[in-house]
Amino acid sequence: MLYSYTRSSCLKMKSPCCHLISNISIRVKLFRYILNGRHVSPSVHVKCLYNRPVSRCFCTDHTQRSKLYYITTPIFYVNASPHIGHVYSAVTADCLHRYKLLQGYESRFATGTDEHGLKIQQAAGLSGKDPLSFCTEVSDRFKNVFRRSAILYTDYIRTTEERHRQAVEHFWTVLHSKGFIYKGTYEGWYSTPDESFLTPTQVTDSTDSMGREIKISIESGHKVEWMKEENYMFRLSKFRSELLNWLRLNPNVIHPVKFQHLVLQWLEDDLPDLSVSRQKSRLRWGISVPGDPEQIIYVWLDALVNYLTVVGYPQNHVEWWTAAHHVVGKDILKFHAIYWPAFLLAAGLPLPQKIYVHSHWTVEGKKMSKSLGNVVDPSEAMEKFTVDGLRYFLLRQGVPDSDCDYYDDKVVKMCNSELADALGGLLNRCTALSLNPKQVYAEFCNTCFPKESLEGGKAVLEDYRMVESVSALPVLVEQHFENLQAYKALEAITACVRQTNGFIQRHAPWKLDRNDCKDKQWLNTILHVSLECLRIYGILLQPVVPGLADKMLSRLGIKPEERNWDSLNFLVKYKGEDCPFERRALGPDRGILFSRLERSKVIPRIGTRQKSKPH
Ligand code: MSP
Repeated sequence: MLYSYTRSSCLKMKSPCCHLISNISIRVKLFRYILNGRHVSPSVHVKCLYNRPVSRCFCTDHTQRSKLYYITTPIFYVNASPHIGHVYSAVTADCLHRYKLLQGYESRFATGTDEHGLKIQQAAGLSGKDPLSFCTEVSDRFKNVFRRSAILYTDYIRTTEERHRQAVEHFWTVLHSKGFIYKGTYEGWYSTPDESFLTPTQVTDSTDSMGREIKISIESGHKVEWMKEENYMFRLSKFRSELLNWLRLNPNVIHPVKFQHLVLQWLEDDLPDLSVSRQKSRLRWGISVPGDPEQIIYVWLDALVNYLTVVGYPQNHVEWWTAAHHVVGKDILKFHAIYWPAFLLAAGLPLPQKIYVHSHWTVEGKKMSKSLGNVVDPSEAMEKFTVDGLRYFLLRQGVPDSDCDYYDDKVVKMCNSELADALGGLLNRCTALSLNPKQVYAEFCNTCFPKESLEGGKAVLEDYRMVESVSALPVLVEQHFENLQAYKALEAITACVRQTNGFIQRHAPWKLDRNDCKDKQWLNTILHVSLECLRIYGILLQPVVPGLADKMLSRLGIKPEERNWDSLNFLVKYKGEDCPFERRALGPDRGILFSRLERSKVIPRIGTRQKSKPH
């Protein structure tokens, strides 16, 4: 069974190079090595890393298959409306999807809703609606919020769909026929809010709001109940050593690495078999066990199979399934890093390429909860801060390793300083009629900005440093995106924007005389370099703030086909090559790139209750 693992599959693919090098840092070292040995441009490097069919690439195995990328979000429970935590999961995956598209991948991006199980059954009961109508209503709410947040999903899956029922039934039958499912009795703790079984060491004593003694899950804090039921069990215990091997052979499969260590730690303990069905008398809302209508399939088994349903399991999944990458929140790591791989191993299917884990959002220092009334409604947030503003904040501030805190005020400050002032200001300066009356992509003059700072040009040492930083930016950003560290990518871009603003400030082009030939050449060169910087920032920002990036690139006159990763060739005139943008007319939209957000519009949050609750 081990042969289905990433590295083993790579070995089988015959390619001697990049396929084997999944760790980005190794790839960066390879890149440096290539650069030292030969003269290869960053775009060739990118092509090499991603096995694109280019003549100078060392890869020999350029199959169509290696260009596929499949990214998923968890599917969202429909017992409550979407909040910013959900949108964060989706925006994180969306950023990766858009980034891969820019790199020329054929990328699929799946999201959707998790609609079965006890907690949905109970929520539907409380709403007085029939379960399916209830699910449809809330699922549509998720769909709308995602569309509004510019989440470019290619597949939206609901676990109540017929295609999914068929996939789950087939998956169950495979597991059962291979002897991994048996009839038994489960006796132990169950948490309905988490839909999770817990061992005695995972629960602790507590009291409820009425002062009654209860048991709660140590991890989630949710109430647990004792249950004893005859149901089907999955031989999870059989997979402990295989899971350990998988993680040891693939040290970067769970990212950030601290979560991989956590899973390894969990696997050091006993791994009891897992109950994978509930008696129909307790749970009606779900998929029946094939051949036993008195039992309903455990909601997590049902839900996890969604990732296969989307890619056509059991008929057509093979090609896309090998490209699977999951984005998950830290609370559902056990399900994705232990249960799911074990189910896949049992079914004889390849394991995911990567599990990207992110931490959670708190609001003004507190966990988001309905009772505190501090749940942040993403639609309201987008109303106040715009789609790009919210996306930028979430990805700029969200750190996968640790929880992040959301404050309206923080969003305002960050967007105003980095998007409106720094980036918007820079665009304004380079495209202002006063400096750029012809409204064109200004010309670069090599004598003003010669290759070496000693050659008597006008550029100074800091300008060369800036060119160096911006040239190195694409590789850096790529590395950060690959590591789910959009915040670091945005930090690096922001630092470069600052350098470019410093460049303009330093040379004060508004003080130059347009009627003087030399001054004019230098002025145009300053504009050209700055426009080139903006073009690079615009391309790199597309996965994060697609609307704003589009506006900026359109203003620069950059055509849609010139906005992909291959176009990240910075300042080619400086290297003595022809620049296709020179003298080209700028785009006509002279509107503000990002309007400053007003603090007064931000309503104090503490104590305010959200309007849109499903029940
Ligand atoms: N239905 C399951 C997932 C099944 S996937 C096969 C589920 N749903 S959920 O709606 O509760 O959570 C969906 C995602 O939202 C999870 O990744 C979870 O971590 C994330 N978030 C929920 N609250 C969050 C925050 N406060 N902050 C960030 N992400 C949060 O679990």
